[in-house]
Amino acid sequence: MLYLLVKMKFFIKTFGCQMNENDSEKMSGLLHLSGWEKTDDENKANLIIVNTCAVREKSEEKLFSYLGRIKKFKRKNNTIIGVTGCVAQLEKEKIFERASHVDFIIGPHNYYKIHKIIQKILDKNEKLIDTQWHKEWPGIAENCILRESQAIAYVTIMEGCNNFCAYCIVPFTRGREKYRPFWSIIKEVEQLAQQGYKEIQLLGQNVNSYFYAPEGKNFVELLREVNKIEGIEWIRFITSHPKNFTKEIAHAMKDLDKICPQLHLPVQAGSTPILKRMRREYTRKDYLEKIDYLKKLIPDISLSTDIIVGFPGETRREFEETLSLLKEVEFDNIFSFRYSERPYTFASRMEDDVPYKEKIKRLIELQTLQKEIQIKNNKKKIGKTFKVLVTGKSKKDKNMWTGRNIYNQVVNFKGNNIKIGKFVNVFITDAGPYSLRGKQVK
Ligand code: 5AD
Ligand code: SF4
Repeated sequence: MLYLLVKMKFFIKTFGCQMNENDSEKMSGLLHLSGWEKTDDENKANLIIVNTCAVREKSEEKLFSYLGRIKKFKRKNNTIIGVTGCVAQLEKEKIFERASHVDFIIGPHNYYKIHKIIQKILDKNEKLIDTQWHKEWPGIAENCILRESQAIAYVTIMEGCNNFCAYCIVPFTRGREKYRPFWSIIKEVEQLAQQGYKEIQLLGQNVNSYFYAPEGKNFVELLREVNKIEGIEWIRFITSHPKNFTKEIAHAMKDLDKICPQLHLPVQAGSTPILKRMRREYTRKDYLEKIDYLKKLIPDISLSTDIIVGFPGETRREFEETLSLLKEVEFDNIFSFRYSERPYTFASRMEDDVPYKEKIKRLIELQTLQKEIQIKNNKKKIGKTFKVLVTGKSKKDKNMWTGRNIYNQVVNFKGNNIKIGKFVNVFITDAGPYSLRGKQVK
């Protein structure tokens, strides 16, 4: 009854990738429209949603340790607790068994019903689970997303994956590829431009394979159309798969003035036999040729990648091929992980034979090498001035602002009259492996 008298508050904890963040923003928007208020304080929340990631074992453990931590809120405030996203899809009712204080479980295909599901829980006071698959794109209104950032807006264009890389759980949690209607993407980006957003990031597990059949539009056509929208200045997209990153996309990046010269192209490993066993459908040579082509076409392009070390059967020599690939490409940034076995995947039927200690050793060796590459390359930026999109205050030093340059590098800087979501020019005075430092100039 009390619920009806005061405005109810919700808190969302998000684990995982930008797509999960965008899903959380959509759930926030739907709840907001239904009269809920967002809070940053778990203790004040009547509802806590944990939006989860299942891509690595560690990500899944994070859910259960977080659920343990918030149990006290259930006892104290009778908070409704729900689990959404990839672990919800994977573990289903097993989550209720491990954490009896959870009230509902919703898979990634059903988050658009969040407000209705919660209303049902309030009305009936019983546990609910919805992990049904859907083939259609969930039609949520473009303007009801409650965004976290006032500077960068995420725009999901496709979801799911048809690739079945041997180590990856995503096709089993997000399902097969689904493409968002072309017109709906354009409409959202136009609205974002009107709201004053300068940067958009197009999201999907496999953006390259975007194809909206009713209008016959592919990814390059989407880039061309988005590039025309007045007000938007920077466009990025993530994630691309090397096997279908075509020359046509590379040329679109060069020709379209708003597409940032920056690309995340996950290689995963530098050895062809390992890539084959990972079912990546490209060789080391194919990957390096694409990188070479891109570097010639867009000489200042900034590249980043994902690496898995210790895939089943990876020998020391094969791992060294990954090290040599890093030396050859000189990525500006990498995201590196030790292999962890995931249910249902092809690799889960292989023997996970690289010992834990060896995986950690390889990971440290890889990250040490990459750190040196980044220090060397970032030092070259000292003395240069970059246009920076301000994203907020620096987390480490409250006297500093933070933002991103066109290459998606973090730039921390001192300045006056700074506004989030606006561009400033920053003169670089110092550089570390993971960020640049500088001061605002005219
Ligand atoms: N073990 C370790 N890393 C993985 N990734 C995906 N699945 C696994 C796994 N089973 C990594 C890949 C992918 C990134 C999002 O997570 O590098 O690109
Ligand atoms: Fe996973 Fe491979 Fe699909 Fe990426 S392309 S989501 S790594 S299966």
